[in-house]
Amino acid sequence: MLIKRPNPIKSSEITPERTFVQRRELLKTALALGLIPGAMAHTQTAAGAALPADGQFTELAPWSGDNATDPTPMEYVTSYNNYYEFGTGKGDPARNAHTLVTDPWSVTVEGEAENTGTFTLEDILKPHALEERIYRFRCVEAWSMVVPWVGFPLGDLLERFAPTSQAKYVQFFTLNDRETMPGVRSPVLRWPYREGLTIAEAMHPLTLLTVGLYGQVLPNQNGAPLRLIVPWKYGFKSIKSIVRIRFMDEQPQTSWNMANAREYGFYSNVNPDVSHPRWSQASERPLGAGLFASRQPTLLFNGYAEEVADLYTGLDLARNF
Ligand code: MTE
Repeated sequence: MLIKRPNPIKSSEITPERTFVQRRELLKTALALGLIPGAMAHTQTAAGAALPADGQFTELAPWSGDNATDPTPMEYVTSYNNYYEFGTGKGDPARNAHTLVTDPWSVTVEGEAENTGTFTLEDILKPHALEERIYRFRCVEAWSMVVPWVGFPLGDLLERFAPTSQAKYVQFFTLNDRETMPGVRSPVLRWPYREGLTIAEAMHPLTLLTVGLYGQVLPNQNGAPLRLIVPWKYGFKSIKSIVRIRFMDEQPQTSWNMANAREYGFYSNVNPDVSHPRWSQASERPLGAGLFASRQPTLLFNGYAEEVADLYTGLDLARNF
């Protein structure tokens, strides 16, 4: 059986109760990814983004959903993005990322593990059952959204590589291609984009390796064909379009920390009590609710404290931000 919904579902892990994405749509994702024998190879679906004809991003009509639990309308999630390889404007990725070539795709695994090497996307995905998980997602810029992601636990994949006892951290890299990614010609960040987790964070069952959203294959601007989603951390930890995974015995470099260590720490756990040096993190603007809609309070670990707080026992979260 290729597709399952996790059961039982914890309310803090997945919201809300109602089925947002039909099983049939998950099936479409699996088909498009070539995960079902005989199905066509990986193809990129249309993003579904409602960009204005002139290509300029504008705030769409206000969203009237219950912002605590209802998924954010898909058009916001696929048209208001951070993917600096395609530009620093929020509308740039949806406008520019059509040049990203996601097929063929391979991922190189290296470092402190027994089964290292280069694997095709199919090698990576084939043994894993896809799940839909509706997670809150909180950007360090203090906007948030609720997204039904399609993927499987990263830890299930990492175990296949048999990390050694020296593997204390995992680092991830995005593709770095000047031909197809106009943003990497500018030194706004150090390329390739890189991120890191402790091995315990990487193995945590909430950490999701993602191939789709809203039952569809990931649009390029959201990090096709393979991206991380770490729901209790600021969005920048959720690295897109992964091509390299490295098991390490020391804390890895991360792009945002390299760019500005004062503002972006290694852990980057969502924490309303630790302000960003230039703005408060105590509240957030649900994406789509309109610029002047009421903000909602930000929760410690983005609401996932019950599941993840014990990863940080004894760690001073104000110093290790
Ligand atoms: N991954 C890469 N490779 N490049 C990026 O610029 N931006 C990060 C993260 N992953 C980024 C990235 C940031 S700052 C955020 S908030 C999220 O992606 C945004 O994800 P979304 O566009 O799917 O909402």
